[in-house]
Amino acid sequence: MSTSIRRLLSLGGIALLGLVDQALCQNTTSAGRAGAIEACDRLRQEFRPQLFPVGTSNYEAQSHLPWSETCLLTPQCVFLPSDASDVARAVQIIADAQSPFAVISGGHMPVPGAASTPDGVLISLHALTTLALSDDRSILHLGPGNLWGEVYNYTSQYGLAVNGGRYGQVGVGGLLVGGGIGYFSSQYGWGANTVVEYEVVLANGTVAVVRADSHPDLFWALKGGSNYFGIVTRYDMKTFPANQAYSSAQIRPGTPAVASTWFNALNAYLAPGGGVEDVRAAIMPIVALTPENGTYEVINLEFYADPIARPRAFENFTSIPGPTLMNETVVAPWTYLSSALDIPAYAAKTSRQAFWSFSFLPDPRAISITNRTIFGEAATTLTDITGSTVTLSYQPISQAWLEAARAAGGDVLDLDPEDGPFVAGLLSTTWEDPEDDERMYAFNREVVDSINQQNTALGLHHPFVYLNDAGPGQAPFSGYGGGRILPRLQSIQARYDRDGVFRDLLAHGFPLRG
Ligand SMILES: Cc1cc2nc3c(=O)[nH]c(=O)nc-3n(C[C@H](O)[C@H](O)[C@H](O)COP(=O)(O)OP(=O)(O)OC[C@H]3O[C@@H](n4cnc5c(N)ncnc54)[C@H](O)[C@@H]3O)c2cc1C
Ligand SMILES: *[C@@H]1O[C@H](CO)[C@@H](O)[C@H](O)[C@H]1NC(C)=O
Ligand SMILES: *[C@@H]1O[C@H](CO)[C@@H](O)[C@H](O)[C@H]1NC(C)=O
Ligand SMILES: *[C@@H]1O[C@H](CO)[C@@H](O)[C@H](O)[C@H]1NC(C)=O
Ligand SMILES: *[C@@H]1O[C@H](CO)[C@@H](O)[C@H](O)[C@H]1NC(C)=O
Ligand SMILES: *[C@@H]1O[C@H](CO)[C@@H](O)[C@H](O)[C@H]1NC(C)=O
Ligand SMILES: *[C@@H]1O[C@H](CO)[C@@H](O)[C@H](O)[C@H]1NC(C)=O
Ligand SMILES: *[C@@H]1O[C@H](CO)[C@@H](O)[C@H](O)[C@H]1NC(C)=O
Repeated sequence: MSTSIRRLLSLGGIALLGLVDQALCQNTTSAGRAGAIEACDRLRQEFRPQLFPVGTSNYEAQSHLPWSETCLLTPQCVFLPSDASDVARAVQIIADAQSPFAVISGGHMPVPGAASTPDGVLISLHALTTLALSDDRSILHLGPGNLWGEVYNYTSQYGLAVNGGRYGQVGVGGLLVGGGIGYFSSQYGWGANTVVEYEVVLANGTVAVVRADSHPDLFWALKGGSNYFGIVTRYDMKTFPANQAYSSAQIRPGTPAVASTWFNALNAYLAPGGGVEDVRAAIMPIVALTPENGTYEVINLEFYADPIARPRAFENFTSIPGPTLMNETVVAPWTYLSSALDIPAYAAKTSRQAFWSFSFLPDPRAISITNRTIFGEAATTLTDITGSTVTLSYQPISQAWLEAARAAGGDVLDLDPEDGPFVAGLLSTTWEDPEDDERMYAFNREVVDSINQQNTALGLHHPFVYLNDAGPGQAPFSGYGGGRILPRLQSIQARYDRDGVFRDLLAHGFPLRG
């Protein structure tokens, strides 16, 4: 499958973002810069072998972790802690010096300034790679510096899985503080719902072990609250048995006849009684366009958590006749799809990338509005943008998923199962030239605004903006829980961070305000 998957990658199966939201980017002030110089000096005195100034190879490697070229910034220095107490000491030094700083794990969030800093200290959690099972193997202890591919390679030796991300190259650290969409989410909810304990560095530079019964408010806030509440140095996730599974991928040319059948299959999958109701099924339906030459393709990646050759859940995709550009199906170890997606395009910096998130009800009219608005606009306005690709992923959030999340104790995303299943749309764009940043961001903003207006008029809009898929300037927190979550998050934040160290000095992807 790997050659074909490479092709899929080259489509920009996922891409992402680059416009810096000026209001979010830390302003360079002379006080900030002086603070950063002081913090770097003091870190160097205490941690010489772990502190890297500009010009060292470790500085280059760590400051180049971000996946999107739009996110490559120029920190004053890079600090590479080896455990939680190193992180705690660094937070004390940084707070004393009032230095701006950023925290990076896998570097896959394509939001400039979310996980790096133009002038402060970059704390890279890259070396926090704990990966161990508890004695009874029911819990996986994992450091934020692991990538999901490494995690799955480890647990699969024991016939186990965890509910992490779908792509092998994405980081553990950011995905779990943002929520986490995985292959097993219809059984277990968001990845964060399966975390039972966090080891976390608090804003006052102490290390806390956070469980539902020790710090219920903080435990909840870490499940989707991003980096405002602590720097997580260890996650304890529940494991579950997983062995052989069904993995499948089809890429088809999006000719009118084929695309129309494909959209019918998608609508049937999402409808009551459709495949989406089978909790062992997960699907990634993706539409992709290369504006330069008009290549338009429809793609479906499928996962089924049992070793069966033709899961009924996918019957309406499987029965679409040819032609196909790629058609591969295997029953193999369950890690197959995540490692097949473990390709250079999702790992390396090859492009400027943007993600944008928006949601809608699983109604054929909304499915068509999203497709027509994005691809109609892209096909005419982005043809002169070098290297541009536009993809739309329809991510079904099933009823069972919402119920599993609630049953596990809930989270910051706070989706009410009574509001029913929906689709989390991910618009992903790629381009090459920094001069096109503004145009690409404007494209993303405008098509998503237009989709939301059209869906609202038909009663098909859903307010959910998924933080892990959101773009610069989007405000995921203000939509969570119908607006009720933001004040609660702000008050927990203030309680655990009286001096505003994480609030004011740490770089964030999204504002914790309305
Ligand atoms: C190719 C690709 C595939 C993806 N697939 C999925 C998927 O299947 N499911 C899904 O849900 N999402 C997916 N995403 C989105 C992904 O969840 C987010 O980009 C996530 O932020 C990545 O985590 P990271 O550690 O790589 O990010 P980073 O960019 O390192 O961090 C993102 C944010 O989290 C903060 N952070 C990181 N580590 C910690 C920590 N230990 N403690 C506190 N804050 C921390 C950072 O400061 C930053 O603000 C995908 C993204 C890409 C690019
Ligand atoms: C940075 O400065 C600009 C212009 O002075 C201001 O509008 C913005 O709010 C500031 N941002 C922060 C995070 O302070
Ligand atoms: C996982 O294991 C496979 C097979 O041994 C290997 O090819 C791949 O590189 C590993 N992935 C990671 C992320 O270590
Ligand atoms: C396949 O499509 C038919 C006709 O629309 C529908 O009745 C059926 O539920 C679909 N099957 C699945 C598993 O989605
Ligand atoms: C369109 O462009 C993409 C990206 O450059 C390329 O991979 C693809 O082969 C092109 N398709 C056609 C039909 O020219
Ligand atoms: C895809 O491949 C499977 C065998 O793996 C085959 O049964 C099916 O007919 C093929 N589909 C198309 C559209 O070629
Ligand atoms: C999806 O968009 C393409 C390109 O604009 C169009 O040809 C096709 O008819 C659309 N399909 C649906 C179901 O909206
Ligand atoms: C640090 O903050 C935590 C949480 O607010 C608090 O319990 C702890 O006592 C504080 N420790 C110190 C040394 O201030």
